[in-house]
Amino acid sequence: MRDKIAEIVKEIIQEPVKTPEELELFRIKYLGSKNTIKELFSELKNVSNESKKEVGQLLNGLKNQAQERFDVMKIKLENSSSEDLKIDTSRPGDQIENGSRHPLSLVRSEIIGIFDRIGFVVSEGPEIEDDWHNFSALNFPPEHPARDMQDTFFIEKGENEMALRTHTSSVQVRVMESEKPPIRTISPGRVYRNEAISARSHCFFHQIEGLYIDKDVSFADLKQTLLYFAQEMFGEKAQIRLRPSYFPFTEPSAEVDVSCTLCKSKGCNVCKYTGWLEILGCGMVDPNVLELSNIDSKTHSGFAFGMGVERIAQLKYRVNDLRLYSENDIRFLKQFTPGI
Ligand code: PHE
Repeated sequence: MRDKIAEIVKEIIQEPVKTPEELELFRIKYLGSKNTIKELFSELKNVSNESKKEVGQLLNGLKNQAQERFDVMKIKLENSSSEDLKIDTSRPGDQIENGSRHPLSLVRSEIIGIFDRIGFVVSEGPEIEDDWHNFSALNFPPEHPARDMQDTFFIEKGENEMALRTHTSSVQVRVMESEKPPIRTISPGRVYRNEAISARSHCFFHQIEGLYIDKDVSFADLKQTLLYFAQEMFGEKAQIRLRPSYFPFTEPSAEVDVSCTLCKSKGCNVCKYTGWLEILGCGMVDPNVLELSNIDSKTHSGFAFGMGVERIAQLKYRVNDLRLYSENDIRFLKQFTPGI
């Protein structure tokens, strides 16, 4: 009996099971309803009483061994058949569609390119800001409404106040603190305001803000820089006009309009029949802001401006619902594939 068992152990190890047919033969021979091991079990009654236990254990081991080899070979065969499929070179390839740049990313790059040509370098900063960089260093009085819960998403109130930045002017404070003038930088980035989401407003949007600080920087430099930007962005016939405005960090401050390129200033529903479109805010950096960042306001002056990327994209692509930019609808995004 022991010899027979040893023989079958050898067989189980050596039996060829390289194809599904061979595997099936193996199954019938060692695991099927009338298999070889079962036959041996039926012979157990002829074994002497003192050897019964040992032989019984050997037979059980044999049964497990056959089952194990069967399981292993089955998995191997299944894998190798999918392996074969993988290298079926006759199968047609999958169609991979080209993606397209997001319209905001296209406009952002274009704006960066325009300012890069006149020496502005890109600077970036954190989206979660402290009160100092987002407000205090920019001359916001403590009771200023922009600090109010209505506009700002606060993360932590109190002594270590932290909030989602409401503009990228915070990045400019960081640049003024860490670099010496002349400073010529633009800060693109995402900003957050606690506003209800609608076609015309969103709780986050994108800005590009610019800052230039040197000796003898004048309002004329600001105007010329913005005219250059408008003509590069909207065409050489574009004109700008400045209207007085107020920002805590600039004095004087202005709102800038560009002549409506859609109707050539004749008046249309996009420019609300005024011939002008509002595109950005700007002004001369308030001397207080320079001093708060340790820049001598007696020897240095500067200008700053800030624009919304969505607003510029809206004018360029005539997208008049802000929500479309963040819904990831492929039908919308596809339209910005280069060459279409
Ligand atoms: N930071 C202002 C805003 O978010 C824009 C601005 C920047 C205005 C620089 C003037 C100068 O609305």
